[in-house]
Amino acid sequence: MIDIQFLADCPEVIPAIACLHQIEMKLGSRSNFQRTVKEFQNHVNRNTLPLTLVAFVNTIPIGSVSLVEFELKSHTHLSPWVSSLFVASAYQNRGIGKCLMEKIVAIGSEIGCHQLHLYTPVSDYFAKSGWTVIDKAQPEEYPQSVEILVMQKKL
Ligand SMILES: CC(C)(COP(=O)(O)OP(=O)(O)OC[C@H]1O[C@@H](n2cnc3c(N)ncnc32)[C@H](O)[C@@H]1OP(=O)(O)O)[C@@H](O)C(=O)NCCC(=O)NCCS
Repeated sequence: MIDIQFLADCPEVIPAIACLHQIEMKLGSRSNFQRTVKEFQNHVNRNTLPLTLVAFVNTIPIGSVSLVEFELKSHTHLSPWVSSLFVASAYQNRGIGKCLMEKIVAIGSEIGCHQLHLYTPVSDYFAKSGWTVIDKAQPEEYPQSVEILVMQKKL
């Protein structure tokens, strides 16, 4: 059974979520575990940004998604951003990513956002949910060979 909670209501899972985030986003040496933990520690909000949702299956944290004010140095004119969506490999293709995205979009709408943004190497996944490509980007955590697209969803 899938349960989605604000990280603000389960801050004890931050190390587990940070660890899974490192693995599933395949960031390796391009990221840093302690820095990721610190970032998630700033996300313990419910009505203000930054905030994070955590997906649980049978009380085990297995995925998350965040909503943050700023994301890309090259695109500071856009805000806010859906960020860091991941689902642990063993639990993928069960609709959990879709569920996390639907909840974070609903929260964006509730707090008064008119549009949301994200950047991703897997634009096809988000296009299926009505996100449209508006630009390209070259964030430092991805190799230049990977095409990263900036997408937008109007609310
Ligand atoms: C992308 C991700 C979050 C999807 O989570 P999920 O829980 O497996 O997704 P869902 O079960 O909601 O959706 C599965 C559907 O998406 C499709 N899909 C999964 N990954 C995809 C990808 N990279 N590109 C296009 N479609 C993809 C599946 O084929 C499936 O399609 P179907 O519904 O037509 O059968 C997950 O694969 C993941 O964590 N990947 C690693 C991290 C990542 O890439 N995050 C996004 C970067 S911004």
